[in-house]
Parts: sequence; structure tokens; C-alpha cells
Amino acid sequence: MPRGSAPRAPQGPAASEPERALLAQAVALHLPDIPAEVPGGSASALLPILHHIQDALGFVPPALVPEIAAALSLSRAEVHGVITYYHHFRSAPAGRHVLQICQAEACRANGAEALMAHAGARLACAPGATRADGGVTLEPVYCLGLCATGPAATIDGQLRARVSAAAVDALAARIEGEAP
Ligand code: FES
Repeated sequence: MPRGSAPRAPQGPAASEPERALLAQAVALHLPDIPAEVPGGSASALLPILHHIQDALGFVPPALVPEIAAALSLSRAEVHGVITYYHHFRSAPAGRHVLQICQAEACRANGAEALMAHAGARLACAPGATRADGGVTLEPVYCLGLCATGPAATIDGQLRARVSAAAVDALAARIEGEAP
């Protein structure tokens, strides 16, 4: 890559027709909110469009990145950069269960690092990854708004305070109980 050039978004297969239709729906819903005369206005529709797609599919397909970029007159690298900057967005489907553990400062002071290490070992899943059998996704997140009652986590979208190793063990037992 030439010095000083922007990082490139990964190339991959083309978007499917249902994915394109979903993007068209998202653009129709969110782009008209932005007055055409606002400088960079179409770029401000990016986050609502990404949310719309992830709410529908559970992730933002990498194949849609060039289509989103074209729809908003942005570069692929700009769209890719936003998706990777915000931990909320996924580029691949999540597991059947999702455990998010806050790793921000206040929760770290209450044992969040040890809780993440326990979760990684007990669930056999690296932080930031989905287990090979699709049983669980383990995600570090940075502040869930429960800073005084950490460590905070979400388990399948449910916000939890003072999460213990026992809560992780209970989730692991549930997942093992579901295994074929
Ligand atoms: S620091 Fe963990 S919820 Fe705010």
C-alpha cells in the first residue's frame, strides 16, 4: 500500500438480493431525514442505516459495505472504519448466546478482567470471538451505564449488575445443556 493512503475495506463476494433490498429500505427510511444542503449530510445517515441493517440481520454483511458507501457517497474505508470503530456492530453473525462483559475502568476496578478471563476459560471462547460450534459470542464492551455496580454485563441482551463467576457458570451450563 502506498505510504499515506487510507486502509482498504476487505473485498469479498457481492451482496445478495435480500441484503440489497434491506439496504434500499434503510436508505429510504433514513436518508431523507438529512437535508440535501447540509454538508456531509448523507454521512450522518450512516449510523442509523448500520443500526437498521444489524437490527434486521444481527450483523452488517461485509458484502454490503461497498453498497452502503455508494449510497452515501462515502469511501468503503470510511464505512468499514465506522463498523470496526463501534463495538456494537458485528461483521459476522453472533452465536446463539451473547455474553458482553464491560471492560471499562470502573468495572475493571471491580474484577471485570478476572471475570472476562473466567468467561473465556469456562466458555472455551476467546474475547471478541464466537465459539466454533456457534454456542456463544463473548464480547468486551466499554461501559454499560452500571458503573457503580460492576462488573456489569449483558447476557443475551439483558443488562446485569455485579455479575459473578457463578452467573457465567450458569450460562455455560445452559449452553452445554443445549449441545446436540
Ligand atoms: S464502567 Fe462498566 S458499566 Fe460503566
